[in-house]
Amino acid sequence: MNILVINGPNLNLLGERENSIYGARTLREINMDMMTSARGHKIKFFQKNGEGEIISLIHKYRKWADWLIINPGAYTHYSYAIRDAIEASGLKALEVHLSDIAKREPFRKKSVIKPVCRKQFKGLKDKSYLEALRFCLKNGK
Ligand code: DQA
Repeated sequence: MNILVINGPNLNLLGERENSIYGARTLREINMDMMTSARGHKIKFFQKNGEGEIISLIHKYRKWADWLIINPGAYTHYSYAIRDAIEASGLKALEVHLSDIAKREPFRKKSVIKPVCRKQFKGLKDKSYLEALRFCLKNGK
């Protein structure tokens, strides 16, 4: 199985960014954990700060990937362009957040990505990613 993992803006700063909200682990550490858990499946990791860069990655890997695991960062709350890219790609997508966006500021409660994803994983800090990966592995191609 081929799994594409995309992290959006500011997630390159994990480990130094608001640890009480996002946890202390770096994105590199989180990716390493996912790689270990992916047990022989192919998994590619990207982090991009730009909306267009994220969309281009979805386009580029749409035929390669069986699953997309995406944390769009703040784009979650307003990027109809990323939403449309996910829908157009036909990819089975899972939305991930370290924090529980439903319990934070009002602008974070809305996810425009949610309707084009199979499931949302949130509030478990780095474990949100591992739960999403477990879901892919359980459900298969
Ligand atoms: C986030 C939540 C977003 O609201 C925020 O803008 C982020 C991270 C999360 O993983 O909890 O950058 O997606």
